[in-house]
Amino acid sequence: MSEIILDVQNLVGGYGKMTILNGTTFQVPAGSITTVIGPNGAGKSTVFKAIFGLLKLREGKVTFKGRDVTGLSQRELLRAGICYVPQGRNIFPELTVRHNIQLGAVVAENIPDLPARIEAALDKFPVLRRKANQQASTLSGGEQKQLEIVRGLLLDPQLVLIDEPSIGLSPLMVQQTFDILKELRNRGVSILMIEQNARSALEISDYGIVLELGRTRLVDRAEKVLNDPRIGQLFLGGAMEDSAA
Ligand SMILES: Nc1ncnc2c1ncn2[C@@H]1O[C@H](COP(=O)(O)OP(=O)(O)O)[C@@H](O)[C@H]1O
Ligand SMILES: [Mg+2]
Repeated sequence: MSEIILDVQNLVGGYGKMTILNGTTFQVPAGSITTVIGPNGAGKSTVFKAIFGLLKLREGKVTFKGRDVTGLSQRELLRAGICYVPQGRNIFPELTVRHNIQLGAVVAENIPDLPARIEAALDKFPVLRRKANQQASTLSGGEQKQLEIVRGLLLDPQLVLIDEPSIGLSPLMVQQTFDILKELRNRGVSILMIEQNARSALEISDYGIVLELGRTRLVDRAEKVLNDPRIGQLFLGGAMEDSAA
C-alpha cells in the first residue's frame, strides 16, 4: 500500500452529551480517491468536521503527513495543505465568481501571487472563466460546486475533503464533478469524499470506507466494497442503484 497522507485514529466526539463518533479509525493513502459511504446519520459529515477542526474531540488523533494536526484551527489546516468543501451550497451568491474564488485565500495572508493564482484557476475551468465577472448566483448548481472546488484549490492543498459533492446535481454534472476529482487525483492530490451516490462514487474511487454508528465497519479497495453484497444490503439500502434523479 502506498504512503498514508491522513491517519484518523480512534476519534470520539459528538454534539453536547451525544456521542456520534465512537472510535472512528481509518487511513487515506496518498494520491488516492477514498470514499466514505454509510447510512444517513452515521457520522460521516461529523468525521469531516472533526478532521477539519470544527468539532472538539474527546479522544483521538488526526495525523496529516506524519504531523499531529488534532485540534488545529481551520487556518492552520488550510496552510498545512488540507481543504474542506462542505455539503450544500457554500458560495456568496451576490459576489462575482472571481471574488468568490479570491475568498479562498482570505484566511492566508501574504500570498504575493494571488491574482495570478486566481487567473490560473480560472484557466482550468472555461465555464468559470467565461462567467468570472458575473454574480455567482447566475451559475448552475454544478457550476457552483465547481466554484467551491476551485476556491478550495487556491492554496494548492494536498488533501481535499469533499462532503457529498453530487447532491442536487444532474447526472451529467455529477460525472463532470467526478471527472474534476479524478483529474486532481491524477495530479497527485489526495481526495477524501463522502457520497450517497455510492455506486458512481466507488467506481471512480481507489478505496471505500463504510461507516456505521460512528465506527469504521469496512475499509477495502473500492471495487471490493462495490461488489460486496453485504454492503449493498446492510449499509446502502437502495443507494447502490444508480439514482436517475
Ligand atoms: N450540529 C449538530 N448538533 C446536534 N446534532 C447533530 C449536529 N449535526 C449532526 N448531528 C447529528 O449527528 C448525527 C450524525 O450526523 P452526520 O455526521 O451529519 O451524519 P451523516 O453525514 O453520516 O449523515 C445525526 O444523528 C445528526 O442528527
Ligand atoms: Mg452528511
